[in-house]
Amino acid sequence: MRSYLFSAVATCCALHTAIAALYTDPSEIPTDREYDYIVVGGGTAGNVIAARLSEPTSDPKNVLLIEAGPSNLDFAAAAIPFVCVTLSPKTPMDWNYTSVAQPGLNSRAIHYPRGRVLGGSSSINYLIWNTGSSEEWNRYASVTGDHGWSWSSVLPYIKSIEKLVPPADRHDTSGQITPGLHGTSGPVGVSLQGYPSSIDSKIMKVTEELSAEFPYNEDMNSGSPIGVGWPLSSVENGTRVSSATAYLEPALSASRPNLDVLINTQVTKLIQTGSSQGVPTILGVEFAQSASGPFYRRNATTEVILSAGTVGTPQLLMLSGIGDKKALAELGIESIVDLPDVGQNLQEQTAIPNVWSINATSTPDDIARNATLLNELLGEWATTQTGQLATSPITQIGWSRIPDNSSIYSEAADPSAGPNTPQYEFIFAEVYNSFVAPGPTSGHHMLISTNLLSPTSRGSIALASADPFDAPLIDPALLNSAFDIFTMTEAIKAAQRFMSAPVWDGFVLGQYGLFEGVTWDAEIEKYARDTASTVFHPTSTAYMSPFGASYGVTNPDLTVKGMRGLRVVDASVFPYVPSMHPQGYVYILAERAAELIKADHLVWEADYGTPAGQDIFTKDSVCL
Ligand SMILES: Cc1cc2nc3c(=O)[nH]c(=O)nc-3n(C[C@H](O)[C@H](O)[C@H](O)COP(=O)(O)OP(=O)(O)OC[C@H]3O[C@@H](n4cnc5c(N)ncnc54)[C@H](O)[C@@H]3O)c2cc1C
Ligand SMILES: *[C@@H]1O[C@H](CO)[C@@H](O)[C@H](O)[C@H]1NC(C)=O
Ligand SMILES: *[C@@H]1O[C@H](CO)[C@@H](O)[C@H](O)[C@H]1NC(C)=O
Ligand SMILES: *[C@@H]1O[C@H](CO)[C@@H](O)[C@H](O)[C@H]1NC(C)=O
Ligand SMILES: *[C@@H]1O[C@H](CO)[C@@H](O)[C@H](O)[C@H]1NC(C)=O
Ligand SMILES: *[C@@H]1O[C@H](CO)[C@@H](O)[C@H](O)[C@H]1NC(C)=O
Ligand SMILES: *[C@@H]1O[C@H](CO)[C@@H](O)[C@H](O)[C@H]1NC(C)=O
Repeated sequence: MRSYLFSAVATCCALHTAIAALYTDPSEIPTDREYDYIVVGGGTAGNVIAARLSEPTSDPKNVLLIEAGPSNLDFAAAAIPFVCVTLSPKTPMDWNYTSVAQPGLNSRAIHYPRGRVLGGSSSINYLIWNTGSSEEWNRYASVTGDHGWSWSSVLPYIKSIEKLVPPADRHDTSGQITPGLHGTSGPVGVSLQGYPSSIDSKIMKVTEELSAEFPYNEDMNSGSPIGVGWPLSSVENGTRVSSATAYLEPALSASRPNLDVLINTQVTKLIQTGSSQGVPTILGVEFAQSASGPFYRRNATTEVILSAGTVGTPQLLMLSGIGDKKALAELGIESIVDLPDVGQNLQEQTAIPNVWSINATSTPDDIARNATLLNELLGEWATTQTGQLATSPITQIGWSRIPDNSSIYSEAADPSAGPNTPQYEFIFAEVYNSFVAPGPTSGHHMLISTNLLSPTSRGSIALASADPFDAPLIDPALLNSAFDIFTMTEAIKAAQRFMSAPVWDGFVLGQYGLFEGVTWDAEIEKYARDTASTVFHPTSTAYMSPFGASYGVTNPDLTVKGMRGLRVVDASVFPYVPSMHPQGYVYILAERAAELIKADHLVWEADYGTPAGQDIFTKDSVCL
């Protein structure tokens, strides 16, 4: 089904014009140019950094951005919201990773998609736009000792990043969002769903019928997400918004002479270029298009910014001798800085699409099995960017917690950031989906994907070999703790309660597929372990800790501990996995990082005082 859609879509629509200033071979990079900054990875964060650091000023900085994958403009499907599910796994935009066997999933290994294209995972993701619970940003501030990561400090970034735009079908959105909470003129267009579905009104009705457990929340991005409501997507004019479309393309179309972008090229190593007072300086990068080379090298004069993502960043650090000294020695890699936490602390969320059969006359199920319908919809999208394909398949989202008196709390502490932060999620869609079973050839369906948001399990990224072109060993440790399986089981039972509301009578025909007949606890646990996969949200493999801490990988200003010249800006630095969908958090992180980088190379006081009324955290107030 996925490959059928992918190939149909790949040939449907005219591509945007290619961008001229893009280099596709390392030999094309001007040899006489000195780069102030080299950015590794043109993904979600990397494009924000490259665009911000190359902004026109009286003293413009030269920036080189190196991305392993191709241009997003090579793929028409990347622009069409509804077909997001066809962009991975195993496509030319994906790294095609597979996890190691997962004990929590009855020893299954799973596909592990990561974007390998300009825009990175923001070019292939499912578009949901979240900006957080206030409690978890405050926890980031408290565990890093940097008030700049607190909710009150990041709010201005949210407003400056967002551009709230009408949905693709231009329906009246009053009561579906609180517009005043959102930005209106930032680079990232965000909008509500742009096509009605037959379950919309019924889901809203459940928030009345079962309001105690499933209250309506008018705006899940207010800082208090709990409840059921309408999600925002990174979609503008019926078209995907990624960091490539929102940041890089405008910078490239402006023909900035100080921004060079090299694609189809993998950075294979970070190189020590010197040291002062025993502290190594890392300003060099090595890169190549294949394992057989040729290998090229360039130095930055000011900083190297590593934005290769939660998998790529620790992999590259370790390949370069930055990681656990003993483990690297076993692979023959010489240590530059002994940082045992590199690649550790991987936090990942688990998803299970629970499917019900419904009595509807048409659902998006039909698109996957009717080529005539698909072609009609593609034609509509290509001419007007409207219709079913102009919106993601996700209709509503709910955020919830297990009860405070749950028995699991006798053996595990609450891993979430606080009582207003969700521990699990419902994603609603009017379509069949499964990670493990093929789609049915008839019938209509809806699903509630139950997603575990705050795992206590911790996984890792490790090197398989010293060859940079070998995939690393990815262990997301899904459902690998008593808390995780307990909470996932409770989430599935909550989804069953949601679907037992009176409004579904005569519309819902029953649990479907592998979910059929699954009702009691032991069955639910087996079903969960047999069918679960990732929500695609790995984080924390280069996590921030306070300056001077003996643990962690990055400092609160995102510099890497124990060296000069290198910063990490991507999802790997979050101390805890965000409790909501992380792309919005990554844009926030990257916008603040760009300011931190610029400020570090200016006179500090001229640009930054202590904002009035804000505390500067001292070591004593840091809660560890
Ligand atoms: C299938 C899928 C669905 C998702 N759905 C959602 C969603 O609906 N909402 C949401 O908020 N989040 C979603 N996410 C997660 C979200 O997209 C990511 O958390 C976020 O984009 C990560 O940003 P990043 O900058 O850390 O990494 P990425 O965006 O992945 O960027 C890393 C970049 O570095 C490049 N790179 C890696 N190694 C090297 C190297 N050695 N040399 C050169 N380049 C390199 C990669 O090719 C990539 O372009 C989804 C993710 C996936 C994969
Ligand atoms: C991933 O798989 C697709 C489909 O087989 C292939 O076209 C692509 O080149 C692969 N990408 C990588 C990085 O191996
Ligand atoms: C969306 O459409 C509006 C109106 O035509 C236009 O002004 C805006 O630039 C478009 N946005 C993008 C990202 O193309
Ligand atoms: C990078 O800097 C190092 C140390 O100064 C130097 O030895 C090396 O030749 C430089 N590399 C390039 C490609 O300029
Ligand atoms: C489906 O709904 C229609 C009316 O909308 C009804 O006539 C029919 O009996 C229903 N089918 C089932 C199997 O419940
Ligand atoms: C497929 O879609 C077309 C166009 O919407 C429709 O006319 C046709 O009846 C559909 N075919 C089937 C078998 O449902
Ligand atoms: C938790 O409290 C609720 C409501 O007070 C009660 O119905 C339920 O049985 C309690 N559960 C446990 C596990 O004690």
